[in-house]
Amino acid sequence: MKILVTGGAGFIGGNFVHYMLNKYPNYDIVCLDKLTYAGNLSTLKSVMDNPKFTFCKGDIADKNYVDKLFCEHKFDIVVNFAAESHVDRSIENPQIFLITNVVGTGVLMDCCRKHGNIRFHQVSTDEVYGDLPLDRPDLLFTENTPIHTSSPYSSSKAGADLLVLSYFRTFGLPVTISRCSNNYGPYHFPEKLIPLMITRAIYDKSLPVYGNGLNVRDWLYVEDHCRAIDLIIHNGKIGEVYNVGGHNEKSNIDIVKIILKQLGKSEDLITFVEDRKGHDMRYAIDPTKIYNDLGWLPETKFEDGIKKTIEWYLENQDWWKEIISGEYKNYYDKMYGK
Ligand code: NAD
Ligand code: DAU
Repeated sequence: MKILVTGGAGFIGGNFVHYMLNKYPNYDIVCLDKLTYAGNLSTLKSVMDNPKFTFCKGDIADKNYVDKLFCEHKFDIVVNFAAESHVDRSIENPQIFLITNVVGTGVLMDCCRKHGNIRFHQVSTDEVYGDLPLDRPDLLFTENTPIHTSSPYSSSKAGADLLVLSYFRTFGLPVTISRCSNNYGPYHFPEKLIPLMITRAIYDKSLPVYGNGLNVRDWLYVEDHCRAIDLIIHNGKIGEVYNVGGHNEKSNIDIVKIILKQLGKSEDLITFVEDRKGHDMRYAIDPTKIYNDLGWLPETKFEDGIKKTIEWYLENQDWWKEIISGEYKNYYDKMYGK
């Protein structure tokens, strides 16, 4: 079995590469990644010498490059993680989100069609459903919830999802889509809430919470997401969408307080800053379908996952210090003010 993993130098793709090489030592994994600001080869350092792993630097939206790659390798499955993934950056500069997230997905699927109708899995997000109100805890996103996006990021992911489903209906391409809630865990780029707060709190820096901090996200440990994708690519029904989430809703302010408590730091570090434009209020996934069809349930309790994650950031400071010392510093200053 040979699997193309795009975006494997990023957070979830990187965790997926490690997960798959461990679980299936006989599989060949090829990683295609453009190494944008979010891609880090150090995430893949421990597998670079593994003969079952190949890294290729390239852009999923570059159709000549991708076609050449498909000529060189006979892939059995393509799993597309590659994306521009940060909502705040999509508000600053939407264009690249359209190119990578929509055009890139189209290029990959055209190559899947051309090279033997290859099985394609799209890693999508619960953000395509828009948001839910705080005062209706009974409401959850199901696979039938209408697409109703808020940000250029989520709109580009929704555009890609619709394209994927159209390739199934029009061309019979064997596709599946997973729509997952917020992930956390090792190798998470420190522009996102949990790693941002951990890495700043370690050094007693202010913690920028948007608005009143009451927005809710449904957190899932990244390994549980990898296991869900593993099940879908092996046993999922072609043409189907699967929601993936942990029934683990927490407000942003509670998340920040949990991190501070775990690190033994003062809540005085919390600084309320201007709200995100178009900020989604609440996400919450109903994972009934993936449980009924594939037997998937989250295995990592939040209290254990967050402890493991904080320990990982404490023990792997070289990984994230290199990131925050470079171009990222300019982004942080521009985004949050000096
Ligand atoms: P990330 O930003 O950490 O990683 C993205 C990776 O894609 C990087 O390695 C980057 O270099 C690569 N990439 C970007 N543009 C590319 C291009 N044009 N060609 C090739 N590679 C390119 O993202 P992540 O958080 O790991 O998210 C991975 C996927 O999962 C994304 O599709 C995202 O929409 C989806 N998702 C993320 C979450 C989450 O909580 N992080 C939740 C649900 C779904
Ligand atoms: O739900 C899945 C999505 O989760 C993925 O599709 C996205 O790729 C991923 O980035 C994530 O999107 P969010 O916008 O939910 O994640 P982020 O970590 O950026 O923000 C989480 C919450 O924390 C959100 O309500 C905004 C808030 N926040 C974020 C940052 C960066 C703050 O309060 N302060 C911050 O500095």
